[in-house]
Amino acid sequence: MVDVLLGLQWGDEGKGKIVDVLAPQYQVVARFQGGPNAGHTLEFDGFKHVLHQIPSGIFRGDIQNIIGNGVVLDPIIFKKEIDGLAKYNLDLKANLFISKKASLILPTHRLLDAAYEKSKGVAKIGSTLRGIGPTYQDKVARMGLRVGDVLSGNFKQKYQQLVDAHKVILGHYGFDYEATLPQAEQDFFAAVAFMMQFKFVDSEYTVNDALQKNKTILAEGAQGSMLDIDFGSYPFVTSSSTMSAGACTGLGVSPKQIGEVFGIFKAYCTRVGSGPFPTELLEETGEQIRAEGREFGATTGRPRRCGWLDLPALKYAIMINGATQLVMMKVDVLNIFDTIKVCTHYQLPDGTLTDQMPYDLTDGDVTPVYVDFKGWQTSLDGIRAFDDMPAELTAYVDFLEAELNLPITLISTGPDREAIINRVVVA
Ligand code: GDP
Ligand code: IMO
Ligand code: MG
Repeated sequence: MVDVLLGLQWGDEGKGKIVDVLAPQYQVVARFQGGPNAGHTLEFDGFKHVLHQIPSGIFRGDIQNIIGNGVVLDPIIFKKEIDGLAKYNLDLKANLFISKKASLILPTHRLLDAAYEKSKGVAKIGSTLRGIGPTYQDKVARMGLRVGDVLSGNFKQKYQQLVDAHKVILGHYGFDYEATLPQAEQDFFAAVAFMMQFKFVDSEYTVNDALQKNKTILAEGAQGSMLDIDFGSYPFVTSSSTMSAGACTGLGVSPKQIGEVFGIFKAYCTRVGSGPFPTELLEETGEQIRAEGREFGATTGRPRRCGWLDLPALKYAIMINGATQLVMMKVDVLNIFDTIKVCTHYQLPDGTLTDQMPYDLTDGDVTPVYVDFKGWQTSLDGIRAFDDMPAELTAYVDFLEAELNLPITLISTGPDREAIINRVVVA
């Protein structure tokens, strides 16, 4: 079976940590979408490490870690990531597999990302500027380059053809690429040569062969459901299918092979970049959450916008993903509050209440309706069992499980891989 682990909010839920926690139960960990816009943080043995494109099973010994066909891969960032992993003495050449069908991010994709964002002015998406949108755009336009193309004799020619097309667009936007492109191209080709030392595979075969052998696979999502290209807060989204169905197209597996769908959410909400965020707290409480949760982007360092938990958004994400169990993250961040709020409904401009996501959420004119919970106001350090949780936290969990109609099987109480309350049942 392929179990899928994905974010139910706007990204940064803590996916990296939980993939690392669960990875020992799997033989394969595979990324199925996104690219270096992701920043997945793992903490263990006093180390803190942020992964961008490499799957988060990489620290767990002999697990096959696959970069799937649905991913957009930047060779320059790949090389930096590999260099950054040197100190851990991992057998990356044995355990890392790259799909030949993964899309290549070229230096001009990053420039295009910047040009498009600049042209949008205040309406900008707040992209990570990693070239994600333009690379997926070329993939869908049937113009893109893929990892397997670097093996062909005419790769440079194909590269040049695409870059020439990009230069026309950059010229149209009046974007000066002359200053930075030559160096970036040198870095790109050096990084491509470096990348060729690793295993390029037809990963759909790798994955399905593993399934045939009854191996267990964990598909690692990036970003979150509210950033999904179809169901997120469009157009303030990323350019890939971040939902469970994305694991099928992003790895080449049948929907029948999907087993558990772990939906991860923070006990509150955060969002980086622009776009609607109904429960956003623009006052002191938001600042407190940001400080307590160290809510600054793992990829761009930008401060994350913070707010209370949003159940209409969470229910929506659970529905489109078919989540089977829930993982609640960063509960310790709420230790300091005497009152914790949860948004159960939105009030629409005409006064009606709904717990569904309105089409025009983009207009930002819904008012969240909250219920209050008494905070536990105590440290959760060292708690490993549900039964040992403070009564107020148990009440909070019970309420959420009833509202969301799913079990919360993991509760994370700190960044370290050991800070977890675990009652996962894997079939
Ligand atoms: P991802 O993109 O979903 O993998 O999440 P990020 O790594 O971008 O952001 C999650 C941040 O929260 C990282 O800095 C983690 O180290 C940290 N983190 C994860 N779980 C917990 C937790 O339970 N409590 C606290 N305080 N921090 C956590
Ligand atoms: P992980 O995997 C949080 C956001 C950006 C921007 C929008 C589009 O770490 O959870 P893009 O670069 O994809 O064109 O940006 O999506 N975004 C993320 N926010 N976590 C991420 O990844 C994100 N990846 C993209 O901030 O608003
Ligand atoms: Mg992140």
